[in-house]
Amino acid sequence: MKPGTIMASKTPSTVTKLIASFALLTGTCAAFSQQVNIICSVQAEHCNMISTVYARVTGAKVNMSLKGSGEALAQLIAEKDNPKTDIWYGGTGDPHLQAAEMGLSLEYKSPSLPQLYPWAQQQAQQSGYKTVGIYTGPLGFGYNPELLAKKKLAVPKSWADLIKPEYKGDIQVANPASSGTAYTMLATLVQLMGEDKAFDYLKALHKNISQYTRSGTGPIKAVARGETAVSISFVHDGPGEKMQGFPVETITPSEGTGAEIGSMSIMKGARNLEAAKKFYEWAITPAAQEMAAAAKQFQLPSNKATKVDPRIPDFKKIKFINYDYAKYGASAERRRLIAKWEKDVNSLPR
Ligand code: F6P
Repeated sequence: MKPGTIMASKTPSTVTKLIASFALLTGTCAAFSQQVNIICSVQAEHCNMISTVYARVTGAKVNMSLKGSGEALAQLIAEKDNPKTDIWYGGTGDPHLQAAEMGLSLEYKSPSLPQLYPWAQQQAQQSGYKTVGIYTGPLGFGYNPELLAKKKLAVPKSWADLIKPEYKGDIQVANPASSGTAYTMLATLVQLMGEDKAFDYLKALHKNISQYTRSGTGPIKAVARGETAVSISFVHDGPGEKMQGFPVETITPSEGTGAEIGSMSIMKGARNLEAAKKFYEWAITPAAQEMAAAAKQFQLPSNKATKVDPRIPDFKKIKFINYDYAKYGASAERRRLIAKWEKDVNSLPR
């Protein structure tokens, strides 16, 4: 769940240490005092961490609200004529590309772009420099081994396994209209199977789904807490739950899977443009990106110099499809697929 507004205020000890090390690394101090309004589409711990550290290190006032990728885009569309947001931080890349195409975000070519991995730079190029990749992560399944054993169910290893009747009522995924995770699933299946077969598959999967959640991380949290046996989730969202002592494992489907390019955009008409650019530059530094792992978030960060935590999924071991980010991030395509899913899949009885 990602509701609410954070006024950077928490001071856990990790945060204090990070503030100190970040200030040492960058030589930054509270040299300027500005306000920046951010929509944050990563998990609350991650949003809290960056907001608190950035505010302490720079003296800036950070107003942050938390929203899933699809919900964030809906808000940005709604405030188009009177923008209130300066930065949209995180969330899957497809809706950021859609925002760029719709003229909601501002072209900004960071001098630090060459420090980023090619996939992050490509995200920037494809959008006319209106967004940039800040992390990436593979889509897969989360499962609760204890609950599966209790229900005498095997670990699902493929997309094909998920539609077997024995998993009826035991799988959760988010709703693609509100969640970038679920839209990544939808677009991945269309690319993997072709559209007709993908929709047949989604109709079959629908019978096994107990709940479509609003937030993309809801289902793996439900798995961790034993509320459902299996989720369709980003695999980087597993380790953080496990660190809290929950029985949760992840796997990627044998047929192949997609990945997100988590992105960041400066909004067109930003009221605090200079502050937005400063935050943007800071957010792609290795010191800022290392905070994700400190907040138990394990996407692969986009700056090549950012330390890679061992809990970040090993991309070399995963079979990926060649995800077409430009096509599936296009406004018309994203809208069409979500509307088709609502009409042909979500409206069916279970
Ligand atoms: O913050 C965890 C995360 O999985 C990100 O990697 C991803 O960009 C985001 O959640 C997607 O959230 P949602 O599916 O709610 O849009």
